[in-house]
Amino acid sequence: MKMLIKNGHVVDPVAKKDGLFDLLIEDGKIKKWEKRLRVDTVDTIIDAKGLVVTPGLIDLHTHLREPGYEYKETIKTGSMAAAAGGFTTIVCMANTNPVNDNAVITEFITKRAQEEAIVNVLPIGAISKNLEGKAMADIGQMAEAGIVGISDDGRCVMDTALMRKSMQYARGFGLMVVSHAEDECLSGHGSMNEGPVATELGLSGSPNAAEELIVARDIALAELTKAKLHIAHMSSRGSLELVKAAKKRGVSVTCEVTPHHLFLTDEAVRGYNTNASVRPPLRSREDALALRRGIEDGFVDTIATDHAPHASFEKEVEFAQAAHGMVGLETSLALCLKLVQDRSIKLSQLIKLMSANPAHILGLKSKGTLKPGADADIAIFDPNEKWNVDPTKFYSKSRNTPFGGWSLKGKIKYTVVNGKIVYENI
Ligand code: DOR
Repeated sequence: MKMLIKNGHVVDPVAKKDGLFDLLIEDGKIKKWEKRLRVDTVDTIIDAKGLVVTPGLIDLHTHLREPGYEYKETIKTGSMAAAAGGFTTIVCMANTNPVNDNAVITEFITKRAQEEAIVNVLPIGAISKNLEGKAMADIGQMAEAGIVGISDDGRCVMDTALMRKSMQYARGFGLMVVSHAEDECLSGHGSMNEGPVATELGLSGSPNAAEELIVARDIALAELTKAKLHIAHMSSRGSLELVKAAKKRGVSVTCEVTPHHLFLTDEAVRGYNTNASVRPPLRSREDALALRRGIEDGFVDTIATDHAPHASFEKEVEFAQAAHGMVGLETSLALCLKLVQDRSIKLSQLIKLMSANPAHILGLKSKGTLKPGADADIAIFDPNEKWNVDPTKFYSKSRNTPFGGWSLKGKIKYTVVNGKIVYENI
């Protein structure tokens, strides 16, 4: 099977290319690209005139909810939302029901993904059995079954000795350890960021320190164990400072930020908007700006969605009772393109953050680039098309977004996985 993508503006930070090229795909792989390609016969031609062609986006942080919470999302619907957002590979967290804490569940997820997902789905296994923070999960068996990392995301591993032991295990299996950094003793029942807005609204808050304490602890443990540490959904300026200092010392630590922590603050909670309820909470303007600076100066490794679908009955309740999290796969690229539109970063830097870097963190050598021989996982988008976020049109089963009604610029036109068009919007 041959596909030709013509006249596109190809941006590939790994190949260090940013210009007009024709791209030839053969049998699911990138064959070659040149300024003008003459090819006799192809099965499919995409005219990408006026469109940007990049390596498919990779999301290190999603919740696909299957098994157990299929009313919120399934592996199939989550993968459709991913494709509509330009993602070709997504990593899914372990807080399903049952929890992905053993090889049987890992195998179930990978099998389901093979049968039903339209993008690549890579599972994360739990650190502790049933996310209870007491006994270690079957890390070795899950590693054999195909997990790409371990995390109790949604919960913090509060037992430091257990975290240390898990890091030692993970290191042995070459797995990354993804930290949900939240000192649960300190965050307590805080349903939003601790600060003046919480005081005004009469809601209990969770301070930045709840995150920073665990970021500091896990960096110390990564230094001790030499494990590969990844800080999930980093929300505070202090956490970023800790990660920066650790990187400068040569600690193996990477970090992600989410679009919602970049583009929203705790002001979004006003009106008791439960779609703005998320963990870690939306922070102050100072924190959001610090995270943006972290992106500009290259200390933030990747932007991940933390796509967290919830049904409307779980959100249409009192703020403090609402389920935490928001969907993100279908809005992430257009939101992040704001950073390019306001000239904070170049487009190639954004693609590095959303494709090359996460591929590198996962150790996927044939993804995150369009170099000849790489997997033909490609995102093609119109950088100028304006659209309004309408949650009723989402492919995701859930609609919980605080970005509904926002006017964004940049729309996915085609998503190609393994040389096949899996999403098309022309
Ligand atoms: O807001 C959140 N929702 N944060 C998490 O860490 C977990 C996620 C979920 O699973 O809903």
